[in-house]
Amino acid sequence: MFEKINTNNFYKKTKGLSIFVLSKNINMNNPKRYTITAALPYANGPLHLGHLAGVYIPADIYARFMRLNNQDVAFVCGSDEHGAAITLRAKKENTTPQEIVDRYHELNKNVFSDLGISFDIFHRTSSDLHKETAANYFKELAEKGAFTKKTSEQYYDEEYKQFLADRYITGDCPKCNAEGAYGDQCEKCGSDLSPLELINPKSTLSGKTPILKETSHWYLPMGEHEEWLKSWVKDGVLDGKKVHNPKEWKNQVVGQCMSWIDGGLHERAMTRDLDWGVKVPLKDAEGKVLYVWFDAPLGYISATKQWAKDNDKDWEPYWKSEDTKLVHFLAKDNIVFHTIIFPILLKTFGDHILPNNVPANEFLNLEGKKLSTSRNWAVWGHEYLEDFEGKQDALRYALTSIMPESKDSDFTWEDFQARNNNELVAVFGNFVNRTLVLTQKYYDGIVPERGELTDFDKEVLEELKALPHKIKKSVEAYRFREAMGEAMNMARLGNKYLADTEPWRLIKTDEKRVKTIMNIATQITANLTIAFEAFLPFTTQKLREMIGMDKLDWSFIGNDNLIEVGHKIGKSELLFSKIDNAQIEAQVAKLANSQEIEIDFPKQKDTIDFEDFTKLDIRVGEIIEAEKVKKAKKLLKLTVDTGLDKRIVVSGIAEHYTAEEVIGQKVSILMNLAPRKIRGVESQGMILMAENEKGELAFVAPTKDIITGGNVS
Ligand code: MF3
Ligand code: ZN
Repeated sequence: MFEKINTNNFYKKTKGLSIFVLSKNINMNNPKRYTITAALPYANGPLHLGHLAGVYIPADIYARFMRLNNQDVAFVCGSDEHGAAITLRAKKENTTPQEIVDRYHELNKNVFSDLGISFDIFHRTSSDLHKETAANYFKELAEKGAFTKKTSEQYYDEEYKQFLADRYITGDCPKCNAEGAYGDQCEKCGSDLSPLELINPKSTLSGKTPILKETSHWYLPMGEHEEWLKSWVKDGVLDGKKVHNPKEWKNQVVGQCMSWIDGGLHERAMTRDLDWGVKVPLKDAEGKVLYVWFDAPLGYISATKQWAKDNDKDWEPYWKSEDTKLVHFLAKDNIVFHTIIFPILLKTFGDHILPNNVPANEFLNLEGKKLSTSRNWAVWGHEYLEDFEGKQDALRYALTSIMPESKDSDFTWEDFQARNNNELVAVFGNFVNRTLVLTQKYYDGIVPERGELTDFDKEVLEELKALPHKIKKSVEAYRFREAMGEAMNMARLGNKYLADTEPWRLIKTDEKRVKTIMNIATQITANLTIAFEAFLPFTTQKLREMIGMDKLDWSFIGNDNLIEVGHKIGKSELLFSKIDNAQIEAQVAKLANSQEIEIDFPKQKDTIDFEDFTKLDIRVGEIIEAEKVKKAKKLLKLTVDTGLDKRIVVSGIAEHYTAEEVIGQKVSILMNLAPRKIRGVESQGMILMAENEKGELAFVAPTKDIITGGNVS
């Protein structure tokens, strides 16, 4: 029904050279099957809206759309269960990595299925099949000479007896000077780093400055692959064959790849000195595991293997056949791993295909601020599902509407509410509801026959035929916002059709005309079940049940006779319901509250000996006099009875306490701090204060009546 873009025809019409080129090209306009991957989420925390809008919803729309077109699809994903993200989380929570991955694998898997993310399999990298798969790839690559083994000095934490790679080490960024850059990357400026480049390196484990120690690793010499990578990324040409159209890749993806390649590709270690991960399957590799970015992408393959096994299929064509279209969905921080490192591995391994496209998204912000798991600035998928029961599609709709396809975008609760109420309820829901309710009312739910069509009817049916083509073109170009916008235009078309024809008025004067109108409105409604299938699967399912129609594939869309005259429509319910202000305010308040609880506590200071501690002479004192220090808004001059003497202490508490209210206050005083002159007054000691998250101060004082001069230790 749709014009298929057929390269064969195109080339037949041209002469000579083009025909030669054709024979070598791979026609990706008509692939035999699709392998669709979504970046494996780390099983170290729950999923938030950024993950969903950036990776999983777009991937799901694409997979559902291809299935709707009767394509052979393997849509694979799973938990990424290795790497420092997991072990550091376990350490922070004082538990084992296994406990962490079990917990989050389960949670994330459920969020995906509850939101209708239609993975064919959601696997795990801790599974035996995965470990075996990853280890075998590594071994074969090593046998093929893909790696160079090298001994070098690396940072080592003496206290934890562990080498420090990636996120185990932080320091100042050598490129932008930002503090807290990781051993593999600076999140501030995005630079790719190695631990040895960090300024003032510190171990994440002990907080100490690490020492250098020798260790051996297997490195991938990426520099050797620059030439073919360049032509593959830039021209879509691999081994002399055109394998993809680079114009179909997003600018940002090509841009990031080329800037990496042009900056010169360096070698990168594919192994780590850690005990959590896939053991390196070679001799002399005691205590070493595969680098998580070697292991995780192979998770796509092991997931496909498991899926094939479960469904009596052969996994190999999905990764090896040139007529398979491989598409990786991910966020922008994962680009180079999927366009450079993983392709190098696949190409070196041989007889594997490379991705046809890597439609990476930008980031989603939340209420104007960067989403952050560590700062707890997020809306969590599982909490949304609890708070908005039955409203999965409202979220899918809102997130698709603002999908960060070519630039960062912002989720706000207000926008979410507006999209639900003004678009889903007021347009889509309103149209469907009017159609079904009027059909019930006038015809007992039996679809009436059409009479002669007016010019307006014909125009509307023309538009109904034209829209699907636009939806399809946009989905195929990975422009899902636009695609869903076109599907929404179909609902708008229907809504406008009823508003303009006003069957509820005409029923009194022109019953025959109303039959035509209601027939057409029913056909548009039926078409909506196909148009929205990939975007709002819960809604289309419900709508099909209401109309009493089967699931139809894409070849039926645009047809104005999907529902036969005489068919009886079932009971109609509301497709969508409004979200009221109270619900939105509750969410906004929840976000605000999440900020008060979560504080970035400073790191623990370096360990001191007990002897160091005993040098501090702290006693219980009592403030017996107090006055403000002139021209110093923060300072109080206190006279403190220490049991031993009465001494003067200058304290920075004047913004929190008045002189009057501190008199009689018991305090902890550090006695043997070297005296200092503050604003001309000699201060002989220090009063210990505690600070809360708002910066308010409180005295650290005994909770029982302790005599003045009592020892604090
Ligand atoms: N776990 C990684 C992240 O969340 C993504 C891994 S993608 C894969 O950034 F290709 F390695 F699987
Ligand atoms: Zn930096």
